[in-house]
Amino acid sequence: MDYRGLFEDVTRAVQPALAGGRVAQYIPALASVDPSRFGLAIAELNHRSKPHGTGDWLEPFSIQSLSKVFTLALVLAADGDTLWTRVGKEPSGAPFNSLAQLEREHGIPRNPFVNAGALVVTDRLLTLTGDARGALRDFLRTESGNPRIDFDAEVAFSESRHGHRNAALAHLLADHGRLDNPVPDVLDHYFWQCSLAMNCRDLARAAGFLARHGLRADATRLLTRSEAKRINAVMLIGGTYDAAGEFAHRVGLPAKSGVGGGIIAVIPGRCTVCTWGPALDHHGNSTAGITALDTLTTLTGWSIF
Ligand code: DON
Repeated sequence: MDYRGLFEDVTRAVQPALAGGRVAQYIPALASVDPSRFGLAIAELNHRSKPHGTGDWLEPFSIQSLSKVFTLALVLAADGDTLWTRVGKEPSGAPFNSLAQLEREHGIPRNPFVNAGALVVTDRLLTLTGDARGALRDFLRTESGNPRIDFDAEVAFSESRHGHRNAALAHLLADHGRLDNPVPDVLDHYFWQCSLAMNCRDLARAAGFLARHGLRADATRLLTRSEAKRINAVMLIGGTYDAAGEFAHRVGLPAKSGVGGGIIAVIPGRCTVCTWGPALDHHGNSTAGITALDTLTTLTGWSIF
């Protein structure tokens, strides 16, 4: 594979997209990030082969909702399919922080990637481990091979101070009897999990179990083949929120975005890709990341379809 030529073509294609979109404003600590940054990493299946990357691929950024893929995996690994009685697996067709949808649907979130769904997953991880954010950080350190991965306290406090909508979602869930732990504890672990700072290389590596059909970096099994398939399937229908149809149409891969500007995409049986471009479209997805993945899949023919 000529990664050098591929990276040059992708980097050229994203230049116009770097000018479009806006960095997330509703979490003040994220609003000051330079929107012109761009990074891309590809990690192949064999954990010992070095990841490939370009641009700002070694620059840490706020993982935000990318964390939701990993907390979901940790809960599925422990609980198996019982989680799906508390969280749906349908596209949301609504913004990722919609209160109206959660209320209409009696406190059962549409899927684990909208904020309400992720709060239910974090609640369960907290019950299982006693320390949801710590369990997530340790897992990411191990899978990426980088023991220096850590939380960004400024981002966590910033979101906690301004997280009225997430607090409302958590209280609505509690009112419907959907949380086992106190609302402040669930919110606290959720904000800290979102604040983890990682780079494209480490994220691409950490998500490798999704391309290896559930096998961890050390070849032990985290998830059954079916569970890994289910996470990829839910990423396809909801990983980029109410733009998942457009994303599937353009890119054709399971993927998860975060308002820090990251996107993780999975090519089962081949590799994982992580892009970073902080400017977002109005759905909360990275404009540069979508263009990069669109270009990459078009040039390589890598797609699940
Ligand atoms: O809860 C929030 O609003 C953020 N911590 C995460 C949202 C997010 O990343 C949605 N992504 N596109």
